[in-house]
Amino acid sequence: MSWEPQGCVKASPLELRPGAFLWRALLSNDEQIDLLSQTMTRVARAPFFRPRMPRTGAPFSVEMSNFGALGWVSDQTNGYRYEPRHPETGDVWPDIPPALLRLWGELANYPVPPEACLVNFYRGSARMGLHQDRDEAALDAPVLSISLGDDAIFCFGGPMRGETTSSITIASGDVVLMGGPARLCRHGINRIHVGSSSLIPDGGRINLTMRRVKLPEIGTAGQRTDRPPNAPLSAGTGRG
Ligand code: SIN
Ligand code: MN
Repeated sequence: MSWEPQGCVKASPLELRPGAFLWRALLSNDEQIDLLSQTMTRVARAPFFRPRMPRTGAPFSVEMSNFGALGWVSDQTNGYRYEPRHPETGDVWPDIPPALLRLWGELANYPVPPEACLVNFYRGSARMGLHQDRDEAALDAPVLSISLGDDAIFCFGGPMRGETTSSITIASGDVVLMGGPARLCRHGINRIHVGSSSLIPDGGRINLTMRRVKLPEIGTAGQRTDRPPNAPLSAGTGRG
């Protein structure tokens, strides 16, 4: 699994560990306001739901929604998986905001767009335990995540259980990428600092995580057919 970050015109990232990068304040305040608005318009159609743990059925403290052709869901019976429809409304997910697809095009160094954008909403004491993102076939694609709203303590370690972890505070407008040797690194959110940002009117933190789920299809000439490498991402191409 090889992965190198693409050059970013706006800023240099901090390398958290090999393959894991943090861009501080990559989104300006205006971009954050716009992305929040794009997010909430879509969440009005795909409302936040509370996934449940496989087997125990315990509810997550984080509320979730998804954008894109595939959304990540979890419930007691069928566990972690991607589904094309919202588990409560039965509707297909809204499209991924074009600004997010542009960010993927700038940073992901991957020839096709993501099909999935998980939307995590943290309020109060909501947190996310250490886990790996490994429900995707396309593990050669990085995971790219954007924070909006309250600061959060992001915890990350290696791919093996029991490896030492480190923590760093991430803030609204920050972008994290985990690819190559960090694609399967364990990560989570210990807690959020309630009230540290006024971006979200009722408070809290929203994290938008883009992932490529399926391996790109290979055409008869051995080329990927989903999208030619480096083709520009046009506005409104919400479905991977
Ligand atoms: C996740 O791993 O799904 C979310 C991470 C975050 O909220 O920053
Ligand atoms: Mn994750």
